[in-house]
Amino acid sequence: MQATNNGLVKFPLASTFNIAVSDTATIMGFADTSNPFIPEINSSYVFRKEFVTEFRAFLHQPDGDAYYVTGPTGSGKTSGITEILGRLNWPVQQVTAHGRMELSDLIGHHALVSATPGAAPTMQFMHGPLALGMKHGHVLLINEIDMMDPSELSGLNDILEGRPLVIAQNAGEIIKPHPMFRVV
Ligand SMILES: Nc1ncnc2c1ncn2[C@@H]1O[C@H](COP(=O)(O)OP(=O)(O)OP(=O)(O)O)[C@@H](O)[C@H]1O
Ligand SMILES: [Mg+2]
Repeated sequence: MQATNNGLVKFPLASTFNIAVSDTATIMGFADTSNPFIPEINSSYVFRKEFVTEFRAFLHQPDGDAYYVTGPTGSGKTSGITEILGRLNWPVQQVTAHGRMELSDLIGHHALVSATPGAAPTMQFMHGPLALGMKHGHVLLINEIDMMDPSELSGLNDILEGRPLVIAQNAGEIIKPHPMFRVV
């Protein structure tokens, strides 16, 4: 692992994924292994070289776009992504979409929260997976995205192009996309 100064590290591509690529090729990841959002890995997972190298290209340079994975049920779409990100110590905000899901479910909501068990609750804004991912540079992984209403998803376009998220319900809070934020 080669360390850089911003908490990022370069992992050797061939040995990290046990794939036949050049010994000098690397993939960017995080040095911190303690984030609770880093996916669990299965050490006997088998990687396909094409999948890893394509996804690596996206992780390195998303170019204002999300990464879309399609294929039959159980073909390794979700696990392919989480097994790669887990090895890179890249935290993931994972959600499964459904027909009634709205963009606001991904942004966050107000909730009554107690500071200690039994204490009188106060109303607080709880950031959803999109807001958390944008803020901290996590990957937002939306499973079954085709279940979601396209008009709700169109709100993601501005964000993918690098514009900030403005949360009107939380006093107009502005979240700029972290350079490591990705949408899959
Ligand atoms: N290359 C692989 N090596 C080892 N296990 C695998 C591999 N691909 C898939 N699996 C296993 O197969 C199961 C199904 O994979 P996964 O959940 O990733 O599929 P999926 O394409 O996301 O399915 P769905 O369409 O239902 O969401 C998981 O338990 C996963 O660990
Ligand atoms: Mg899946």
